[in-house]
Amino acid sequence: MEKYRLTQTTFFNAVQDSIREVEKQMLAQADDYHPELHAALDLLLSSGGKRIRPALTLLTGRMLGADPDRAITLASAIELLHTATLVHDDLIDSSLLRRGNPTLNSRWSPGAVVLAGDFIFARAAKMAAATNSVAVMQLFSQTLTTIVNGEITQLFATHHPVTRESYYKRIYAKTASLFETSTQAAALISETGETERESMRRFGYEIGMGFQIIDDILDFTGEQMTVGKPVGSDLRQGIITLPTLYYIENHPDDQGVKSLLDPDCQDFDKTGVKLVESIRNSDSIQMAYHEADQFVHRGIQNLDDLPRNPEREYLRELALYIVERRR
Ligand code: IPE
Ligand code: IPE
Ligand code: MG
Ligand code: MG
Repeated sequence: MEKYRLTQTTFFNAVQDSIREVEKQMLAQADDYHPELHAALDLLLSSGGKRIRPALTLLTGRMLGADPDRAITLASAIELLHTATLVHDDLIDSSLLRRGNPTLNSRWSPGAVVLAGDFIFARAAKMAAATNSVAVMQLFSQTLTTIVNGEITQLFATHHPVTRESYYKRIYAKTASLFETSTQAAALISETGETERESMRRFGYEIGMGFQIIDDILDFTGEQMTVGKPVGSDLRQGIITLPTLYYIENHPDDQGVKSLLDPDCQDFDKTGVKLVESIRNSDSIQMAYHEADQFVHRGIQNLDDLPRNPEREYLRELALYIVERRR
């Protein structure tokens, strides 16, 4: 099976060897623990993943002159944190497919999945501590707090009217916060000044916002085979994302919209499938794309303040890839 990771792009080629090392260190985190935990982590890692967050950390670290081994440790901590959030997220969403493979929750009891996620979180924290930076550890713990708060906000907001502002807050919390940490923490372990650190934080923030908007678009327009996870699932769960927000604004009297915003609606499943189709075929998708593109270009502007070296160009490429990706 084709692996769910980037292979074609220059920016990925530039960090490929370090990413292999990151994967090795991530897997080693389950050595000497229960064989099922090791097998679960092995399966999660071998199914791929785009490794976009560690690529961000490694490129930022290189650009700013961080110690390479420390950057690899940090990148591993960040990708482990991401992996743990996916394990819990798929359980919460009852999702059966991830990276083209069956999820842990499709095979294990909920209890075992929660514990596996906890284990990976704990190992992520251990690796964050191994960077020997108190600032990184603080950022790491704050980021996890923010992500969990974002996921629970989403859980309690299904089938409720959403404002643009609350949507942005939610996607910052669940996704952009970790992108921001991927670049900011890399700057923290580098000998760099406050201005450059702030520029890299902003870069991570903006492209992270764009990243989640594209994820939300792909949930409407993507093919399950390509994205490697179920599509159309946000809306069917009553989760309102940017394409839906635009659609609601432009079609307030649509019957599907009314059912979506009715927390007591029975049988939303059938209406939901139809509404997904209507949104997919509406101009809400293009409007959301435009918004994601704006975030990414605002992100890229922050690179102007940074050293002109190949890594800066790779980071620009990575940012552009976020909008163009199909998975
Ligand atoms: C999925 O992240 C979860 C979101 C924040 C949208 P990715 O799209 O980076 O997932 P992988 O790691 O490449 O599978
Ligand atoms: C997940 O967002 C964000 C996390 C913090 C895990 P989604 O629920 O949109 O991610 P996917 O679409 O399942 O990958
Ligand atoms: Mg999900
Ligand atoms: Mg999604």
